[in-house]
Amino acid sequence: NKAQAWSARFSEPVSDLVKRYTASVDFDKRLARFDIQGSLAHAEMLSAVGVISAQDRADIERGMTQILGEIERGEFQWLLDLEDVHLNIEKRLVELVGDAGKRLHTGRSRNDQVATDIRLWLRAEIDTAIDLLGQLRRALAQVALTHADTILPGFTHLQVAQPVTFGHHLLAYAEMFGRDAERLADCRKRVNRLPLGAAALAGTSYPIDRERVAATLSFDGVCRNSLDAVSDRDFAIEFCAASALIMTHVSRLSEELVLWMSPRVGFIDLADRYCTGSSIMPQKKNPDVPELARGKTGRVNGHLVALLTLMKGQPLAYNKDNQEDKEGLFDTADTIRDTLTIFVDMAAGITVKQDAMRAAARQGFATATDLADYLVKRGLPFRDAHETVAHAVRACEERGCDLADLSTAELQAFHPSIEDDIHQVLTLEGSVASRSHIGGTAPERVRIEAQRILDGA
Ligand code: ARG
Repeated sequence: NKAQAWSARFSEPVSDLVKRYTASVDFDKRLARFDIQGSLAHAEMLSAVGVISAQDRADIERGMTQILGEIERGEFQWLLDLEDVHLNIEKRLVELVGDAGKRLHTGRSRNDQVATDIRLWLRAEIDTAIDLLGQLRRALAQVALTHADTILPGFTHLQVAQPVTFGHHLLAYAEMFGRDAERLADCRKRVNRLPLGAAALAGTSYPIDRERVAATLSFDGVCRNSLDAVSDRDFAIEFCAASALIMTHVSRLSEELVLWMSPRVGFIDLADRYCTGSSIMPQKKNPDVPELARGKTGRVNGHLVALLTLMKGQPLAYNKDNQEDKEGLFDTADTIRDTLTIFVDMAAGITVKQDAMRAAARQGFATATDLADYLVKRGLPFRDAHETVAHAVRACEERGCDLADLSTAELQAFHPSIEDDIHQVLTLEGSVASRSHIGGTAPERVRIEAQRILDGA
């Protein structure tokens, strides 16, 4: 097979099925821009150390510029016969510039080349994801600021627990997405190392300058061991793990949006552009986008497990198994990018139904803890206060009323220390306002925290 780079060694061509089975060009062609960027840096270094001539380097640059143009215009002919993005581009380069093109691969292997390409590509994806996480946090903080005073029931075990502010609830997600951004920034440090120079696995006998290539490509440093450089995919696994957590957080938020939008709860409405109707039930407006985001979490988790499994049995150094790293990794990056982009806009467009939230917070004795705390301030040990309030709740339940509906005299029947000021304590506003410490749900605190995020914290 004349198209292949190693044809002289082989006496028979591979079958069409094996060709398709071993080829990666259909999916790794999206690395083309980074492949060219890496090649240009390599050629620049080769000429700087005198391995190729300045003329060769100029020819390579001219050829690559033309190839990049052809790819961007959709004119480039991708050939399955040439297996992957690297061989396709190299073959075209030789067609365009002749011997200089044949010299490009000096001191290099596809093994360090592909590792470099993926790192360059992933670095850009990480930067995009970090930016989107920042946008999402700011979108949530903006809604939180608007709804710093809006009260809804907070739940534990999905049972009404204590009143919280809607702003506080949203800022919980802003915290999660903040940690996600930190994780990506940390992962980026290990992504941003240059494998090039490792060649196939053992390094190369040419007088290469790896630091120079690293600087050209804005890597923070070089991989320190050639065997590790060509076979390490830890950085990709870390990215998938960080992405799985991003999707886990998106999925939890989605679950709440779906629940809140159910007519039985009715806390929010989502903009029509994120919902779809039913082909049979005319009344339906379904929260498809959050449901799908929840579902897509499964595929991102799957990619993480696939990549871990791909690596676990591999001896040093490069093995063809590694070609299987790409599709899941690409899909992970695509999924978090699209999901986060959609959520930035969707979060900003949530309609909050304050009356329904408030009505729900008034059921389920959400301020029972406040009554217990009141008794503690009057000298009762907390456990006794807890028991006293439990009696009061039970009495209310029998009468079908709320704690706040009881008169001071009725409350005094449960404990004589209760006075008129109890009614301030039993209000939803009083309950949330009293939790104004760092991390608390008070409107005053929510405004401070939301503003911190909007100011870039
Ligand atoms: N397409 C290959 C990959 O994605 C490139 C490296 C191939 N190297 C090799 N020796 N077959 O990993």
